[in-house]
Amino acid sequence: MRFDVITLFPEMFSSIKDEGVIARGIKKCLLSINTWQLRDFSNNKHRNIDDASYGGGAGMVMQVQPIRDCINKIKQTSPNTKVIYLSPQGEKLTHKLAKELSTLDSITLLCGRYEGVDERVIAHDVDMEVSIGDYVISGGELAAMVLIDAISRQIPKVLGNQDSLNDSFANGQLDYPHYTRPEIIDGQQVPEVLLSGHQAKIDAWRQNQAINNTQKKRKDLVKK
Ligand SMILES: C[S@@+](CC[C@H](N)C(=O)[O-])C[C@H]1O[C@@H](n2cnc3c(N)ncnc32)[C@H](O)[C@@H]1O
Repeated sequence: MRFDVITLFPEMFSSIKDEGVIARGIKKCLLSINTWQLRDFSNNKHRNIDDASYGGGAGMVMQVQPIRDCINKIKQTSPNTKVIYLSPQGEKLTHKLAKELSTLDSITLLCGRYEGVDERVIAHDVDMEVSIGDYVISGGELAAMVLIDAISRQIPKVLGNQDSLNDSFANGQLDYPHYTRPEIIDGQQVPEVLLSGHQAKIDAWRQNQAINNTQKKRKDLVKK
């Protein structure tokens, strides 16, 4: 999977490129993340990419020209890339959406700042808007990193031998509880079945716990 990220803050992405699951995916050549500094596509000497909003009001708006030129540049080497604008107004990110997007070869992520982008970018250059939730954050970068991580975990072999099949939401329910050494701490004991070595019993216990967890914490999933 190739990710191209259009941003005013490319350095923010070093946190996922250099550490953890995504860094390992990059090392294994299963992923690539190319960042594009939007100011490099400005056509004025001050490298501005935003201007005041027509109609007045506080806050600047990101202009069409630099964004369009940057997307066109990316499309020279990835003509079929799906262009996603991170936006609180977009389709809400879910496990299902991340899984669907993980089947693509190339995704371009447009990170907004200020009041967002000129609406003509959304109408003409963007294929889809994605939201990470019903709240507003200050820029699309954190949202893009959430999306990259959620998608990357669904790409075969990115997680290595770590198993995401039982992760919360993968089967419409939450994960089961996990325990590690020591067996007893401050009087709290690991459930005995997990020490039994009887895999069928352990699997049944975990399935039961996953259902209980879902009923207790996320009744909305049970209804679905
Ligand atoms: C301050 S926000 C602009 C919000 C915009 N005025 C609105 O109310 O719809 C700046 C940028 O942060 C990003 N952003 C903010 N909240 C987001 C969310 N929930 N999901 C994805 N991106 C978000 C978008 O890229 C947006 O252009």
